[in-house]
Parts: sequence; structure tokens; C-alpha cells
Amino acid sequence: MKQYNVIVAGATGMVGRKMVQVLEERKFPVGKLIPMASARSAGKSVTFNGKEWTIQELNEGNIKNSGAEIALFSAGGSVSKEFAPICAKYGITVIDNSSAWRMEPNIPLVVPEVNREKIFSGSKIIANPNCSTIQMVVVLKPLHDKYKIKRVVVSTYQSVTGAGQKGYDQLMKEWNKEKIESPKFPYQISFNALPHIDDFTESGYTKEELKMVNETKKIMGDDSIAVSPTCVRIPSIGGHSESVNLEFEKPFEIQDVVELLSHAPGIVLEDNPKEKKYPMPIFAHDKDETFVGRIRRDDSVNNGLNLWIVSDNIRKGAATNAVQIAEELIKGK
Ligand SMILES: NC(=O)c1ccc[n+]([C@@H]2O[C@H](COP(=O)([O-])OP(=O)(O)OC[C@H]3O[C@@H](n4cnc5c(N)ncnc54)[C@H](OP(=O)(O)O)[C@@H]3O)[C@@H](O)[C@H]2O)c1
Repeated sequence: MKQYNVIVAGATGMVGRKMVQVLEERKFPVGKLIPMASARSAGKSVTFNGKEWTIQELNEGNIKNSGAEIALFSAGGSVSKEFAPICAKYGITVIDNSSAWRMEPNIPLVVPEVNREKIFSGSKIIANPNCSTIQMVVVLKPLHDKYKIKRVVVSTYQSVTGAGQKGYDQLMKEWNKEKIESPKFPYQISFNALPHIDDFTESGYTKEELKMVNETKKIMGDDSIAVSPTCVRIPSIGGHSESVNLEFEKPFEIQDVVELLSHAPGIVLEDNPKEKKYPMPIFAHDKDETFVGRIRRDDSVNNGLNLWIVSDNIRKGAATNAVQIAEELIKGK
């Protein structure tokens, strides 16, 4: 079996560490792992397939000499803007987790369960969507294909891990009553809910909320889907949760929706209120699937449906989705 040399850029971060773990778990055919991060981390190492791999500084020289075919990036937007085109120049296909390239018209934005075919558009940079968008579109896709979604109203309950290592550290330090030198969140996060993720824009929406609007349309390939989001950070760890209200063009039967979702790729149905069975971050934690439950009709509109969706934002929302794209890439059309 052909093996591939793989750069993981941002290998010391929350997502990068998970990418290395997921590559190993899913037995991705890695010949050489090339972990990269900032100069601060150069010389440290990561463990992969029982071996230590030395971290290199992410720079043009190291990219050029890497012999890599694929690069998984999770080192932030400005790093991706600078180094993804350099990788592309040396023939390396980049799968990028930041928001740097997602809305560029010629860059595919991919969730394999939804739009796998875009991987083969010929672009050397492929964008991995925002974590809250990924888990939502996995569930929207089969429903849209059958009932055509007119409008989505979504409220998120997002894990501190979505803000990277610093977000996680702030929660832990608050709990342990330790001093926090430079807080990640503008307010205390423990015992709190912050209706503020990423920067506010002139519109009053945050950038995170606009990502959910724009990325959903691009991935689903349908600009007519109206999305109304509110994104909230809560002190959970295992994954992001979403309350999703849908309005369809076509009528539906609840049993058909349940049946459809129970067979859809990447989805696990957890929906038995009598047994207190519904998705929660503590159950989704460290799993690759997207969990859906609380499926019920919304009688306040025609053809309305309510859902509760939970997924591990570091896995399906980031690392797993990126590795799945790489898997599909090497499988080919
Ligand atoms: N957390 C999530 O749920 C999530 C989901 C989807 C996408 N993402 C995206 O993934 C990216 C990383 O997120 P994260 O949560 O893993 O953040 P993180 O834990 O803060 O890690 C950041 C990583 O970027 C590296 N880095 C920073 N500056 C660098 C530079 N100048 N050159 C090379 N490497 C540099 C860091 O290396 P050092 O250790 O050397 O500083 C570290 O490996 C972001 O773009 C984020 O938006 C995150």
C-alpha cells in the first residue's frame, strides 16, 4: 500500500495533537510524520505509532525539504494564509482547519458526508469548515435532500475546547482558583454562558455566527437556505451542542425523519426521552460521530422540526473531518 508523508502544522495544539492521534487510530498510511509548530516548539517531539517524531519550525525551508504529499494545518488563520500557498507551491495538498480559506470561491469547503466530490476540484488547498457548522450540516444534508430546508434557526452551546488550549486552561484555572495571566474569554467562563464567540461585526452578529450562515450555504451548495444563528460559549468540555429549528418546504412524518437520520452517514441517533436518552457532550466526547436526538415537530410553523445535535468539536469538528478528507483524497474519485 502506498504511504504518504504528512505534515501536521500546529502539532502541539489542541487540534494538532488530536490530528496525530486520529491519523494513528484510523491507520492512515503515513510513511513519515512531519510535525511542525512555532519556533517555540522546535526540537520537542510527538509520539506517533510508537515512535518519537521531532517537531520542526514551520517555515519554507522545512516545508521544501519535507518530502510531504499532504499537510494538515491547525495553526491559526494568519499562519495558514502565509504557509498553505507555500505548501501548494511544492506540490503538497493542504487540508486547512483555520477560517483563512473557507470562503474563497475557488477553495473547496468539505464535509465528506455532504460534498465529498469537491475534494477533487483540483485545488491544492482544501478548507475544513468551522466546528459548529460541520456537525450541523452532517444532519441537515439528508433532510435537505428529502424535504428541502427553507430556514434554520440555531443556538449553539459550545465547549471551551473550541477556543484551543488557552480556553481549556482558563476553565481549569478558574476551577482550581489559580491566577490567570491572560484570560482567553472576556469574562469568567465557569458557571457562566457567554453569547460571544469570535469578534463582533457591524451587523451585530459575531464572526462565528456568520461562519455558520455562509459556510452552511457553501457546503450544502444552496444559497437559498436561510440561517439564523446565536453562538454561545459554555463551560463544557466534550463537544459542542446545538438546538436546531428547521422549516422545510415539503411536509414530513416524524417517523420518516427518524428513519432517515438513523441510516445517514456519520450520524448516531440518541433519541429516547422515556429512557432519558439524548445526546450530551459527556457521551460525545472522544467519538467521531455526530449525535442527534430530541427530534420533535415544531407546531408553531408549517413543516417545522426541532433537533438537538452534539459532536466532539476537536474530532468531527476539526481533526477527524480533516483526516477523513485526506482519506477520501487518497482513495480518489
Ligand atoms: N479547537 C477547535 O474546536 C477548533 C475546531 C476547528 C478549527 N480550529 C482551528 O484550528 C486552529 C488551531 O486551533 P487549536 O484549538 O488547536 O489552537 P491551540 O491549541 O491554541 O494551538 C495552536 C497551534 O498553532 C501553533 N502555532 C501558533 N503560531 C504559530 C506559528 N507562527 N507558526 C507555526 N505554528 C504556530 C501552535 O504552536 P506552538 O505550541 O509552538 O505555539 C499550536 O500548535 C485554529 O485555526 C482554529 O480556529 C479549532
